[in-house]
Parts: sequence; C-alpha cells; structure tokens
Amino acid sequence: MVKIFRTLSLAHSPTPFYRLERLSEKWGGDIWIKRDDLTGSGMTGNKVRKLEHLIADAENFGADTLITCGGVLSNHCRATSLAAARLGFKCVLLLRGDRPDDLDGNLLLDRLAGAEVRFVSKQEYTARLPELLQELADEVTARGGTPYLISEGGSDPVGAQGYVDALNELKGQCDVLGVQPKRIVIATGSGGTHAGLYAGVKLLNWDVEIVSAAICYTEAETARRVSVIVDGMNSRRGYSIPSEASNISVLDGYIGPGYAKAHEPVFETIVEVASSEGVLVDPVYTGKACWCIKSEIEAGRFDGLTVFWHTGGVFGLFPFKGSLQKTLGWK
Ligand SMILES: Cc1ncc(COP(=O)(O)O)c(C=O)c1O
Repeated sequence: MVKIFRTLSLAHSPTPFYRLERLSEKWGGDIWIKRDDLTGSGMTGNKVRKLEHLIADAENFGADTLITCGGVLSNHCRATSLAAARLGFKCVLLLRGDRPDDLDGNLLLDRLAGAEVRFVSKQEYTARLPELLQELADEVTARGGTPYLISEGGSDPVGAQGYVDALNELKGQCDVLGVQPKRIVIATGSGGTHAGLYAGVKLLNWDVEIVSAAICYTEAETARRVSVIVDGMNSRRGYSIPSEASNISVLDGYIGPGYAKAHEPVFETIVEVASSEGVLVDPVYTGKACWCIKSEIEAGRFDGLTVFWHTGGVFGLFPFKGSLQKTLGWK
C-alpha cells in the first residue's frame, strides 16, 4: 500500500540564500546564509517547516487542539500558538519554569495568539513530562476536544520531514547559483532540524556535512537524539539512511554558560552580525551558531563554503536587552 503524507503550506518559501559578503571578509571565510528566519513574521524560524507536517498529521487525526511543551520563552511554542490560531486550532502549552510577572518575548506572543499556558517547575517537567502531557490531553478530551500532542521542539520523525523539504529547496538554489557548500551549520537543541537536513543530504547523495553547534546537550547526547529521529524517519518513510550517532557531526564547545544563557562572546557576535549584514541572531540559538562559525574559521577548521542556516528566534533578543545594552555601551 502506498502511504500518502499530506503537508500544509505555512512557511514563506523558498527562503533567501545568499553570501554574507562583509562577514566573510571580516571573519576570513566563505559564509553563506539560508534565511529561515524569514519563513514568516510572527510564525518565523525552523519550527514552521516542522509544523507544516505536524499540523497536517493533526488534521488527518481529526484533532482540534494542539498540545506542546518547551521553555517559558520557547520559539517552538510561539510558532505553534500562532499556527494554531491561523488554522483554527486551540492550543495548550506546557511551559517549563515559573510564571513570570511580565509577559515578554515569545510568551507575550503565545498569549496574544490565545494559547492556554500552564507552568511546571523544571524538576517536575524533567521527571514527568510524558505523564504531564497525557494529563493535559485527558483534560482536553474530558472537555469534548480532540488533542494532538506535538513533541518538544516538534522534533520527531514527522516534524523533521520539514527539513528534508528544506534541504531540497537549498539544493535547488545551490544548483541555480553554481555553488557547492562544504558544510551547513545549525544551532541544535532537540535535534529535529539536524535530523531532517542530514536525511535530506543522504537521500540526495549530496556531499555536504551537517554540523550542529549544540546549545543544550553534550556532543554524545545531541548525536544520540538526532540518530533516534533519523531511525524513526527510516521506519516511517521506508528510508535506509545510516543513523548511527557516530555519523552525526556535533560541536559542543559553544553552549557557553548553559542553555538559554549567554555571555560576552555571543553578545559581541550578535552585534557584529547585525551591524555588518542587517541580520538579527539571538542569544539562545543562532547567535551561538554564528559564534561557532566565527571561532572555527579563526581556528582554521572551517575552510571552504560554510552555510549558516538561520533558524529564527528573533524574539529571544528582547528578554536579553539588559546584557545587550552593556555590549552596546548604552548602560
Ligand atoms: C531559533 C531556533 N534555532 C534552532 C533550534 C533548534 O532546533 P532543533 O530543536 O530542531 O534542534 C530551535 C529550537 O527550539 C530554535 O528555536
């Protein structure tokens, strides 16, 4: 039997792909950018491409309520809230951390989009995530709704397929421009973006390395998570992509002070990228990917053409305005 996989159209694509002329000169490399920060305005970033597959699956399932989870300032939760509002779903978010007094960044946008938000302590979230999500799903069912659970970051074999599509899009752009990247660098958390891009290059037999700048987990844990998703894609789609963690390239020297924390090298990189290229990167994800590219070029390890795949996250800049004001010499 032939399986049919539906997809929705949510992202404004193809997203632009071009050379970062001034940063290439400044950092001494050949740096190009794939601008998935432009997949939408509020609905921006890598999560949108995953949601094209996940929400199509939710529709097939007959769901009317999307349930997902993440940090209080999660980009994935914000993109899901807005996509739910756009497509007429209800949305319930399970957020890791305390309820802040002020609405800021992505949380403000979640509430503007009408998402229902629930807060749980970090300890409880870590210890009981599957049960907590199931309890929320049961609550939605008891109210007469039909829930669809989306995993953290939309990083499962369904969502990751969005990055197989995205990789095909980039290959087409490279063919038109006559460029051959040596590597694609992304900031990696839950691993779905890496899994999709990696599956994409393997399916096309395209000789490009996918490199994660890990922003959350160690090299081994990041590679393990990506490999589990690739395994799941093999089962779901009938691919036979080598999924061993040893095939997954991860650099974990760019986590800095920790997940969702940043320090001066990241803030300085953010200012450099914005002022040289008019591109906004954030302190949690993409600023760290750029810091990685800058440092690896400096260390002589990134020769040839490097693509920085911008995965969005612009709203993550605002909650860091205190530190950025210092970097900019404002205070
Ligand atoms: C802006 C941004 N970049 C990168 C990532 C990491 O993507 P993934 O979770 O697929 O590894 C995220 C995930 O939340 C994100 O919001």
